[in-house]
Amino acid sequence: MINFEEEFSERASKMKRSEIRELLKLIQKPDIISFAGGLPNPKAFPVEETRKIINDLLDEKGEKVLQYGSTEGIGPLRKELAKMMQGRDMDVDQENILITHGSQQALDLLSKVMLDPDDTIIVGSPTYLGATGAFRAFEANMETVPVHKDGMDMEMLRRKLGKLKNKGKLPKFIYVVLTFQNPSGATMSAEKREELLEIASEYDLLVVEDSPYSHLRYEGEEKPHLISMDDEDRVLRLETFSKILAPGFRIAWTTGPTDLIEKMCIAKQATDLCTNPFGQYVAYKYIAEGIMDNHIEDIKELYNKKRLTMLEAMEEHFPEGVEWNRPNGGMFIWAELPEHINTRELFDKAVDEKVAYVVGDAFFVDDGGYNTMRINFTHSSEEEIKRGIKALGKVIQEEIETMDVEEESPISP
Ligand SMILES: Cc1ncc(COP(=O)(O)O)c(C=O)c1O
Repeated sequence: MINFEEEFSERASKMKRSEIRELLKLIQKPDIISFAGGLPNPKAFPVEETRKIINDLLDEKGEKVLQYGSTEGIGPLRKELAKMMQGRDMDVDQENILITHGSQQALDLLSKVMLDPDDTIIVGSPTYLGATGAFRAFEANMETVPVHKDGMDMEMLRRKLGKLKNKGKLPKFIYVVLTFQNPSGATMSAEKREELLEIASEYDLLVVEDSPYSHLRYEGEEKPHLISMDDEDRVLRLETFSKILAPGFRIAWTTGPTDLIEKMCIAKQATDLCTNPFGQYVAYKYIAEGIMDNHIEDIKELYNKKRLTMLEAMEEHFPEGVEWNRPNGGMFIWAELPEHINTRELFDKAVDEKVAYVVGDAFFVDDGGYNTMRINFTHSSEEEIKRGIKALGKVIQEEIETMDVEEESPISP
């Protein structure tokens, strides 16, 4: 029998299973209220509209939609996407849009064309787990910069880059999720966005803005998109249909510097030839027939109610000493417990009380986040949110009380 552990490439040996996927397996019991997944609510899937689009597509151009497509993506979809982005103040050309199988594939292709083993990149602390998984697969050296409620710490970024420059290890790019970040829900202020671009310019760096949630804003004004502010062609922007249509289609799009998009397209040829054309035609019709704009409004209404229900329940049931943010959009709330509480240790107790979250430290490349948790508010019903948050509040309260008693007990001689 082949011993694959000895045969795998060095690269494959460093690949790790996604921790969230492992956790999700543990809690896939019907009686557990899970705030763990990052899943859209199935009620937000436009089933009837999709059925009609699919029937029309098969009737009108069955031969075309079932055929292979070009690697960069089908023309009509790229044209609609360019129009949509231009309408949101992003000056992009359809020729510069690459359609991928999810933004996850864009992260993989980006890594494939940019990273040699041990190349440095900058990521947030915390940051999106799927991105660090892709970067790790290409053996990147990930340097971290703290992310606060208003996004990445620019002062720390400057310091980090100064140090890396001195060591001759300037990063290949900075990876950021600026709007309603997964996991923390943080959104970077307009001023900090400007500063980020200034810093990138100073060090001549590419900035990768992964933006799956910017359409899901429930409150407040939209912040300027990095790509609209960039006049030096140093921003790669990733967007996806996963949160505004359905993740099952696996359709996303990337736009940015021409040379980079072209190289990613060449890498994609060797990966999968093209993104599934049938799904691309569905996505095209979804925009072209004006279904998307209305549908996004429906999703926002649905998710906003859940967000408010969760925030209210947290106010009522979370004990003193716990802090959380109030994100104006996206899918996640980030909670910070008193420092001596480890949310990984708390996890089993929460599952015993039939409620689950994602342990925050999973989103930290280096140490940190042991007292944090990511809580998803889009997937559960409002009734489940109320019950689940009450149960979670109780588990946290009990843990705080146990810890306090332990701290007070006299040290034995
Ligand atoms: C920040 C971020 N990037 C990328 C993705 C992956 O998106 P896709 O479904 O398009 O692969 C997600 C999914 O949750 C995400 O949160």
